[in-house]
Order: sequence, then C-alpha cells, then structure tokens
Amino acid sequence: MVAKADYDVLVEVTPTNVETAEPALGHIRGALGRHKHVVTSNKGPIALAYPELRALAEANGVLLRYEATVCGAIPLIHAMQEGLAGNSISRLYGVFNGTCNYILTRMAEDSLTYEQALAEARELGYAEADPTYDVEGIDAGVKLVILANTILDMHTTLDDVERTGITLLTPDALRLAEDLDCTIRLIGEIVPKAGVLRVSPRIVGKAHPLVVEGTLNAVTVEADLAGDLTFIGKGAGSTETASAVIGDLLYIHDRYVQGS
Ligand SMILES: NC(=O)c1ccc[n+]([C@@H]2O[C@H](COP(=O)([O-])OP(=O)(O)OC[C@H]3O[C@@H](n4cnc5c(N)ncnc54)[C@H](OP(=O)(O)O)[C@@H]3O)[C@@H](O)[C@H]2O)c1
Repeated sequence: MVAKADYDVLVEVTPTNVETAEPALGHIRGALGRHKHVVTSNKGPIALAYPELRALAEANGVLLRYEATVCGAIPLIHAMQEGLAGNSISRLYGVFNGTCNYILTRMAEDSLTYEQALAEARELGYAEADPTYDVEGIDAGVKLVILANTILDMHTTLDDVERTGITLLTPDALRLAEDLDCTIRLIGEIVPKAGVLRVSPRIVGKAHPLVVEGTLNAVTVEADLAGDLTFIGKGAGSTETASAVIGDLLYIHDRYVQGS
C-alpha cells in the first residue's frame, strides 16, 4: 500500500513500538523514498531513527512532521522549532505522561494507594492493561529523546535517560508533600548543556504552573530571549491528537501546494 498507492502525504498512525519502531519505520522509509511527505503520531521511528529519516526526507525533497508524538494537542515542537527558533534553550521540564499525572492526582486527592489509583485509571481507559510503558517513565523518556534529538541538537537514546517511575510511591509520601504545601509529579527534564535527560517523581510546590490535574500535560521551556514559557494542554485523546496531525498536514500544504 505505502509502496504502490497514489498519495501525496503518508499519515502514519500505527501503534508505537519503541524497540523496533516497526511497522511504522518501514512505512515511513518507503514513503520518503517515493518523495512522499510524512506526518506521524508514532513515537517509535522518531525516537529511534530521526537522523536517518530526516536525511532521507531531505534527499527526496519532502517533509517529515511529528508534532503529535509529544504532548498530544500542545504544539510544543512547532513552538520550539518556529516561535523559539532564535532562542537558546537552557532547560526544559514538565509533565509528559497523562496516565501518571492522573494516578498521582488521585493519590493526593483521596489518599488512594498507587494500586487503587491505577485500577481507577484502567477503568476510565487512561491506563493500558499493562501500564509499564507509562508508569515506569518509558513514555516520558521517549518523548524527551524526541525533543532532545530533533530540536535540541543532542544525540540520545532511551538508555541515556535516567529513569524512575511512580510504582513505589506511597500515600504517605504524598501526605508528607502535602504538609509542605507541595505535591508529587512525574517530571521529565532535559538540560542540554549538561547532556542530562531524566524522568523521576519530584516534589513540586502546589502553586507551580506544572501542577496540572488529571490527564493534562504541562511543559516549561527556559529560553534565553523569551524567558520561561509554560505550555499546558491535553497530552492524548483522539481529537487532541488529530489537532496536531492536521496542523502538520496544513504546514506541508502551505509549503508545497501551488497558489496557497
Ligand atoms: N491516542 C492518543 O491519544 C495518541 C496520542 C499521541 C500519539 N499517539 C500515537 O498514535 C498512534 C495511534 O494511536 P491510536 O490510539 O489511534 O492507536 P490504535 O487505536 O491502536 O490504532 C492503531 C491503528 O493502526 C492500525 N494498524 C495496526 N497495525 C497496522 C499495520 N501493520 N499496518 C497498518 N495499520 C495498522 C490498526 O488497525 P486495526 O485496528 O485494524 O488493527 C489501528 O487502526 C500510536 O503510535 C500512538 O502512540 C496516540
């Protein structure tokens, strides 16, 4: 299909595999090799093979866009590549995984155990049957790798991410944080100059802009000219992800369709 069909842009939205990136990687290579633009929401190929895919896109005179791979509806990649293009980024940190954020929100709100909050997240469809990918910080780590490699000029893999998940957090830990007028959030952080990528539960003051509730995502970017900017929005969901995919399609349309 990808190799033979007549189309202008491949929209690659197959399930993410962060070990092999397949079948998406093969689809994207095939499309770029045929001079077809690609828009993807699939983290695997971007986290594992961005330099190769970018070079292939450039060699074939087409674009590869991937806004939906990080923070769903938040146009973070677009903002960093376009709006903040003249800035140097000293640090970027935030809440990249809505499932963990929901679990931590519920543990703090109603003194639920991790297991109880996870069960609730599963019932509501926020957590998979096997939640490892989210709760061990892998999903957040993959998103950091994408931002580091595609925007911050770093060369990283998931193995470079110092990673601690939320599975060992207890209601007591959240209560202690509460006593300090703080709470706990799973924070992903990149410090480009130090080569640091880390995901870990952190104590955060309740008034901090990153303390968002439920399944929201929030990211603060520290930029030399613009100062600190915090982006908050829905990190997942069908229409929210579609927002990012459509934005990428229109980006390509504006650059490649005659007369637009
Ligand atoms: N949903 C979100 O909120 C969200 C947010 C950001 C990024 N993403 C990413 O977007 C992608 C899609 O997510 P989703 O939630 O829509 O997943 P999904 O509901 O599992 O849908 C995946 C689709 O891919 C199709 N598919 C599976 N294997 C295929 C193959 N080998 N060739 C062609 N099609 C294949 C499936 O078809 P069948 O049903 O026929 O198997 C299904 O239509 C994933 O990579 C995900 O990580 C999702």
